[in-house]
Amino acid sequence: MSDGTMAGRTVLVTGASDGIGADAARVLASRGATVHVTGRSESKLRPIAEAVGTEPLVADFSRLDDVRRLADQVRERVERLDVLLNNAGGTFAPAKRTPDGHEPNFQVNHLAPFLLTNLLRAQLAAAGTSLVVNTSSAANLMGKIVLDDLDYAHRRARQFTAYGTSKLMNIVFTRGIAQRWSEDGVVSVAVHPGPVGSSFGRDSWLVGLAYRSPLKRFATISVADGAAPLVALAERGPDPEIDGRYFSRFDADGRENRQAHDQSVITGLWQRSEALVGLS
Ligand SMILES: NC(=O)c1ccc[n+]([C@@H]2O[C@H](COP(=O)([O-])OP(=O)(O)OC[C@H]3O[C@@H](n4cnc5c(N)ncnc54)[C@H](OP(=O)(O)O)[C@@H]3O)[C@@H](O)[C@H]2O)c1
Repeated sequence: MSDGTMAGRTVLVTGASDGIGADAARVLASRGATVHVTGRSESKLRPIAEAVGTEPLVADFSRLDDVRRLADQVRERVERLDVLLNNAGGTFAPAKRTPDGHEPNFQVNHLAPFLLTNLLRAQLAAAGTSLVVNTSSAANLMGKIVLDDLDYAHRRARQFTAYGTSKLMNIVFTRGIAQRWSEDGVVSVAVHPGPVGSSFGRDSWLVGLAYRSPLKRFATISVADGAAPLVALAERGPDPEIDGRYFSRFDADGRENRQAHDQSVITGLWQRSEALVGLS
């Protein structure tokens, strides 16, 4: 039964096959939104798609051609997009490059959503006003963006630093959208959902220690509690008050890495990302 707060709004949720994304998709659909869901595993995604009443959109973000195909499918399905929840992501072993040859935290957590969002700009603009929500993390504080070495070709990449850097990029990208797309009515926001006991960090023994051991109940919050800030932002919609800001759960202006305010990083990351995905 819908309570209608999202009635008439069209939403795309990435990383909807599990965790925070799956929960946010279900809640937003229950509140009346038309929700489209994407994930890399059709079998995991299908039950969520059935719950929200749309067909699953399968794309692996470690393949940029999958992202391009996904954008084509979304454009065929929807004329306008009111909310884009860029939520897919995780911590990945940096040594295992993606099929496109990128460091995986950089590609899956930043480059792929950067490409998807750019390819859906016209659909976001067609809504009149729209909202992009980027799921970032408190781990942004551990990141360091080196514009001349985004792919760690000349440095050793450690998994948690590479993850933190990609989550810092989510905030920097949020600021880039706020600076560039306001004429299209696109508002963007980044959010840390909290330490959520989802499938997050399944490839990391360190995260697993806190998230999937008896320590879990002390260290984590539920998936529903983790999804709640994303749902609240989606419901709030494209409020200019929140444009370009980073929320720590429900609180605006969470603690940020100082690079998140560095204009040379904001401009440089956008330009280099454009070049890497072939948009410039
Ligand atoms: N959990 C936390 O404590 C925490 C804290 C801060 C930020 N976050 C962020 O919250 C977001 C959601 O994480 P979660 O906690 O819900 O974790 P999760 O349960 O592992 O869900 C992650 C989602 O991203 C998808 N995904 C992973 N790699 C992908 C790829 N290559 N292509 C397409 N989709 C991919 C997963 O697909 P599969 O189902 O196929 O794996 C899943 O749907 C992530 O961006 C994460 O960085 C989480």
